[in-house]
Amino acid sequence: METSLRRCGRSHCPPGAVPPECLLRQTRLQAVRATLLIPLVARAHGARCYPWLDCHDADAAHLLSCLQSDAETLLQDRLVVLNVLWRTHVLKAWGREFFARHPHAAGVNLGCGLSNHFQWFDNGHNRWLDADLPEVLALREQLLPVQGERRHNASIDMARDGWWDALELDRLAAGGPLWLLCEGVLMYLPPGRVRALLAEFAERAAPGSVLVLDAISHRGIGQAHMSPSVGPSGAEFRWGLQHSDELLQAHPRLRPWCAARSVAECYGVFGWAAEALSLPWSGAPLYSMHALRV
Ligand SMILES: C[S@@+](CC[C@H](N)C(=O)[O-])C[C@H]1O[C@@H](n2cnc3c(N)ncnc32)[C@H](O)[C@@H]1O
Repeated sequence: METSLRRCGRSHCPPGAVPPECLLRQTRLQAVRATLLIPLVARAHGARCYPWLDCHDADAAHLLSCLQSDAETLLQDRLVVLNVLWRTHVLKAWGREFFARHPHAAGVNLGCGLSNHFQWFDNGHNRWLDADLPEVLALREQLLPVQGERRHNASIDMARDGWWDALELDRLAAGGPLWLLCEGVLMYLPPGRVRALLAEFAERAAPGSVLVLDAISHRGIGQAHMSPSVGPSGAEFRWGLQHSDELLQAHPRLRPWCAARSVAECYGVFGWAAEALSLPWSGAPLYSMHALRV
């Protein structure tokens, strides 16, 4: 994917900036990194297709305009747009509930892309860390520079052990619970890495910490070419749930924080019926959200 940033006059594009620092800096993102555009487009313009799921993202449309990316093609993948808006709706509700109980806790967005979820959770006390691969972080720091002392960006490769220490999460947590979010990321990692990530969370997080994640069914593995938005990026689905209890079995400390949700709920009674009929084949919902605690 090739995108160009254009001067917009906001903090990442100050009026005095001289090319190539800002005006026409070329950015190349490959495969899974390029998938960050998909949720960004959904949050920016998806409400045109699903107005009842409008997430009112204050930044997404502006970021897209700076990237000068073609949103219309991605918007045509209605299933994925619905998935992203629905998951945003769910994670907003879960995050608000967590920070209402723990107003001084910190939040971490693992594989954050160009999202700005702190806009929904900032209560004036809590802190926030956005983490992604170095190339994405470089783009993020131009477009969404960190403002204020309570939020930070960090580069991380979740495919490696030791991400908890690399992000200095013990220091961020200061002995309290953390709220971690990993959306639209795990399905691109090998199954062994997903299990290792869950185990690292389970072993290192303080009691009360919560990890929110989304998952596809294992039937989606290797099927990215079927998706009009993910297919062209070159990314591939590598992990999916064989059955719904699999996440809890990754480590004995893991417990459900609340009941898992399935995107079937967006389709009403037809969605539930189709899911019930397909579960013997799919093993788990085709797309679902989970909140695990330790
Ligand atoms: C589909 S995008 C989701 C972005 C963001 N979570 C959102 O919903 O807008 C997938 C993101 O996962 C990140 N990612 C993929 N593999 C990663 C890894 N090994 N470590 C950290 N981030 C990774 C990509 O760079 C990309 O930003």
